[in-house]
Amino acid sequence: MNQLFVFSFLLAIASSYAAVVPAASYVVSIQGKDGGAPICGGVLINEKTVLTTAQCLASYDIEQFVVSVNNGSQIIKIAAHTFDAAFDFVTMENNIGILKLAKSAKANVIKLAQEQPKTGASGVIYSWSTNGILNRVDVELISTSDCASGDYGWSEDEVLKTMVCGSVKNSNTCVGRFGSPVVSDNKLVGLTSWGGCGTNGQAAVFTDVPSLRSWIKSSL
Ligand SMILES: *[C@@H]1O[C@H](CO)[C@@H](O)[C@H](O)[C@H]1NC(C)=O
Repeated sequence: MNQLFVFSFLLAIASSYAAVVPAASYVVSIQGKDGGAPICGGVLINEKTVLTTAQCLASYDIEQFVVSVNNGSQIIKIAAHTFDAAFDFVTMENNIGILKLAKSAKANVIKLAQEQPKTGASGVIYSWSTNGILNRVDVELISTSDCASGDYGWSEDEVLKTMVCGSVKNSNTCVGRFGSPVVSDNKLVGLTSWGGCGTNGQAAVFTDVPSLRSWIKSSL
C-alpha cells in the first residue's frame, strides 16, 4: 500500500464518524457570552479562523461575543478580530471580517473558492438556528454582472464588484443571518450580506469571497 492509499483509507474511517463532526461543521455562529440568539453566522477557514461579514464586527462590541461550534458543543472565546478597512457601511462593499479564536475548533474547515461561480450554478446557504437546526437554503447563484443588470431587482449602482448574488429556490425559506456561508461545489463562494430573502425575483446579495481572497490571506 502506498502512503496516499493509507491516508485515504484513514480519511474514509474518519468520515464514518459523521455524527461527531458533521460535514458542514465549518458553519459557526457568533453569539453573546451569556447565551441568547446568535447575532451573525460565520465559517471556519482554518481551525482557529472564522470568516464573517464586516457589518457583524462593525456594529457590535465583539468583546461581548463568543463563537459557537457544532451547535454549541464547543464555545470558544474570540482572541482577536479585524475587518476590511475598505468596508463601506452604506454601499456594503468589502463586507468581510475575520475572527481569531482563542482555541482550536474541533470541526471541519472549508476552502475558499478561487473564482466566482457562473450564473445558474447551485449553491447552499448554511446557518444554525436558535433551536439547534442547521438550516440549508438552496440558491441559484448569479454572477456580479448579471445581478447588476436590473434583471434581479438591483442596478449597477447597488451590486458592486465585491458582491455576488443568489435567488432562493423555495419561496418559503429565507437567507440566514448576516455572515452565513454560501457554498458551491464544496468551496466557500460567499457570505450573506444584504438584499433580503432572495425570493420573488429579487436576488439576495452576498460578499463575493473570491474577489477578497488577497485581503483574507493577508489578514490570517
Ligand atoms: C442542537 O442543540 C440543541 C440544544 O442542545 C438540541 O436540541 C438539538 O437537537 C441539537 N441539534 C443537532 C443537529 O444536533
